[in-house]
Amino acid sequence: MSDQIKVRFADRMDLDGCITLDHPHMPAEVIQRKVEQREIIVAEKAGPLVGYLRLDYLWSFVPYIALIWVVEDQRQQGVGRAMLRYLENVLCEQGHTALYSSSQANEPEPQAWHRYVGFEECGFIAGINGAGIGEIFFLKDLSCHQALSDIDTPFEATPSQKP
Ligand SMILES: CC(C)(COP(=O)(O)OP(=O)(O)OC[C@H]1O[C@@H](n2cnc3c(N)ncnc32)[C@H](O)[C@@H]1OP(=O)(O)O)[C@@H](O)C(=O)NCCC(=O)NCCS
Repeated sequence: MSDQIKVRFADRMDLDGCITLDHPHMPAEVIQRKVEQREIIVAEKAGPLVGYLRLDYLWSFVPYIALIWVVEDQRQQGVGRAMLRYLENVLCEQGHTALYSSSQANEPEPQAWHRYVGFEECGFIAGINGAGIGEIFFLKDLSCHQALSDIDTPFEATPSQKP
């Protein structure tokens, strides 16, 4: 189907598209390094990139969405959620139990989206964006990982089950 959303990690062929979709001042070499480290996820629809997600790690190991961006005329069509779901599945498989994200305090739309897709507000840094604009932080519990652990437990041999 031509308008199906395809989500995947970005590769070298996506560099120009990633540079276009990222914040204007993000150096190309940083984006290139993050592509190589599988820290950028893209969404495409019949070819062109329509969505972009840049992942960071707090303290080098706690996943944090540094930027999620959907091309303006492609919003409200499931692209953002598709990228989030893809990332959550990857993180769950890696054993992560929490995902952080954030949004500027003066942008109610992305804040509402975060809450709608399951994030809860967990903190605030005042003024970090300049001009007195703060950043609201969000946390999403990756309970899928917990659920997988719960399912696994009955199949492990406990001392009482051993002959
Ligand atoms: C925020 C953003 C990434 C959301 O992506 P999107 O593709 O438009 O959202 P989706 O279509 O995947 O939305 C998923 C669900 O959230 C709902 N939703 C979308 N925007 C919403 C909003 N502003 N408030 C509440 N719910 C919203 C959708 O209706 C949809 O619900 P459904 O699954 O029940 O139909 C996108 O709007 C965007 O790029 N905004 C500008 C950049 C930005 O501010 N990024 C966040 C800070 S880094």
